[in-house]
Amino acid sequence: MKFFIDTANLAQIKEAQELGVLDGVTTNPSLMAKEGITGRNNILKHYVDICNIVDGDVSAEVISTDFKGMIKEGEELAELHEQIVVKVPMIKDGIKAIKYFSDKGIRTNCTLVFSCGQALLAAKAGAAYVSPFIGRLDDISTDGLNLISEIRHIYDNYEFETQILAASVRHTMHVIDCAKIGADVMTGPLSAIEGLLKHPLTDSGLAKFLEDYQKGN
Ligand code: G3P
Repeated sequence: MKFFIDTANLAQIKEAQELGVLDGVTTNPSLMAKEGITGRNNILKHYVDICNIVDGDVSAEVISTDFKGMIKEGEELAELHEQIVVKVPMIKDGIKAIKYFSDKGIRTNCTLVFSCGQALLAAKAGAAYVSPFIGRLDDISTDGLNLISEIRHIYDNYEFETQILAASVRHTMHVIDCAKIGADVMTGPLSAIEGLLKHPLTDSGLAKFLEDYQKGN
């Protein structure tokens, strides 16, 4: 399973990259705003800065909601860097845009996916990634992980190449459950990645090893 970090914070992206397990980055307009990155030029520059830190794919989201606008924006984003994947919302014009980009060899990430039907459409249109938001489904008492399972089943039935990118991952158990289900990618905060490290028996075991080493020296 690929690990993406879901942030526009360069320090956190660097930290995850230095851990050696990072495969890419996802961003969205809210995450950009959270880092105080505003204005088209600053946003475009920030995407390039992110690409220069990581080796893998970097999702950059269009703001337009009409087909023409999405195409114009998406082509500009794709030209920024070869690692850019154009993030397109799951709306009617978004599906048309994904199909257009797919025909032109521009990779897309279909975002704001909350149902199997939406995931099926995204795959049919040729999205490179589909992003079901599992945390936001959990927030409204709906089983986000179950959606990942169902999409996995559907995609396997027809050997769709679209990768399931479990998004809105909030914590380590989401990561582990996504791995069990067979999500291709998960994107979450640094805390969800680093949380995988933690076990009290590792800490106490290491403390004992070091203590015993000291006794013998
Ligand atoms: O990747 C989508 C993600 O940014 C949404 O996460 O935590 O705002 O639901 P969250």
